[in-house]
Amino acid sequence: MGAHTSETVDLAALGDAFARDPHPVYAGLRERGPVHHVRMPEGSVAWLVVGYEEARAALSDPRLSKDWRSVSPSLGLKTVASGPHMLTLDPPDHTRLRKLVAKEFTPKRVDALAPRVQELTDGLLDAMLAAPDRRADLVDALSFPLPMGVICELLGVPSLDRESFRDWSNTAVGSAPAAEKAVAAGAMHAYLEELVAAKRARPGDDLLSDLVRATDEDGDRLSPEELLGTAWILLVAGHETTGNLITNAVLTLLTHPEQLAALRADPGLLDGAVEETLRYEGPLETPTYRFTTEPVEIGGTVIPGGGELVLPVISDANRDPARFADPGRFDIRRDARGHVTFGHGIHYCLGAPLARLEARTALRTVLERCPGLALDAHPDALPWREGLFIRGPHRLPVRF
Ligand code: HEM
Repeated sequence: MGAHTSETVDLAALGDAFARDPHPVYAGLRERGPVHHVRMPEGSVAWLVVGYEEARAALSDPRLSKDWRSVSPSLGLKTVASGPHMLTLDPPDHTRLRKLVAKEFTPKRVDALAPRVQELTDGLLDAMLAAPDRRADLVDALSFPLPMGVICELLGVPSLDRESFRDWSNTAVGSAPAAEKAVAAGAMHAYLEELVAAKRARPGDDLLSDLVRATDEDGDRLSPEELLGTAWILLVAGHETTGNLITNAVLTLLTHPEQLAALRADPGLLDGAVEETLRYEGPLETPTYRFTTEPVEIGGTVIPGGGELVLPVISDANRDPARFADPGRFDIRRDARGHVTFGHGIHYCLGAPLARLEARTALRTVLERCPGLALDAHPDALPWREGLFIRGPHRLPVRF
């Protein structure tokens, strides 16, 4: 077990090429070993963990804390969330908060939402297909509004100012300068406070009303700060990830015409197409932050204790040839299960059944209703989200 000796890799210097296609960079790091100290496009430094076995183990490593109170001040990191939530806490607080909302996201509850998800999808596609020039940005027309619409209904906030929320959220979880992120986070916070106050004044039969009641009746179950944090994480996690999954699925199929043709010929391949997109071009490159609370040895490298930031690279785990044969091939017939796009361990994504339902519904309906769907831009010209967190293009121009 030796100390880490190699230099800091400057990912921030790689610019656009890295945002467009980070996979070869991660694969190059993986060939040299599982742990690398990097400067992120976001600005601060972190320890990346690449490769399937090591990244998956790091996702559930109890020596790594999710609690932002453990972060080293030298990293200059500040949370953008409106309060503490499941992904910024360890047990027992994490367990308590997860329990409060888990019942809303069971496969059974999610199945019951299927007709409504279909209805929302149909309405969005009606509007998109009415464009006289038969062109659209699929992100604006479907990928963003569908998951946003679903999570707003679940929470019971139909009046959410979705465009403002989208801008704030994109900025807060992207690679903007810290000051800009702080402004966006502040705006979201103020907005959520108003939303909660309105809900308290006029409760209904929805998730946010339940959470408000839990807070008001028993602050030990959910503090007012945790109430805001929980609303924040559900709104942000509910749309940033799923929207990019829908976009990436359509884009990857359009750039792999033989796979698209196979799916059109056999709709039974739909679930496989969604699962393979999650593996091959999932919406998250890395998960939310983890911090060392003691020195942690991974694959022969000792990451110091004291709140160092550790990021398992999800998108590299999913492309490790030791786990997935010929990982750079997009193949909707392969068994893509075992990918870690929804995480691993106690923080495993609560919204996975909902995300799958939305992506399957969106993809099936788009293909049915747009038999001539085509990209309306050169794939190399698409503007990609920057930073290590979200993977997906800002826009997806299509013709139909
Ligand atoms: C394709 C879409 C999605 C992906 C790829 C995704 C991915 C993830 C990942 C990787 C984690 C674990 C993060 C970590 O360990 O650091 C996570 C946690 C979580 N996700 Fe998702 N997610 C998606 C959709 C959703 C949706 C639709 C919701 C809810 C509306 C949601 C709610 C959550 C919540 C609440 C957690 C925290 C769970 C915990 O800490 O116990 N996610 N998600």
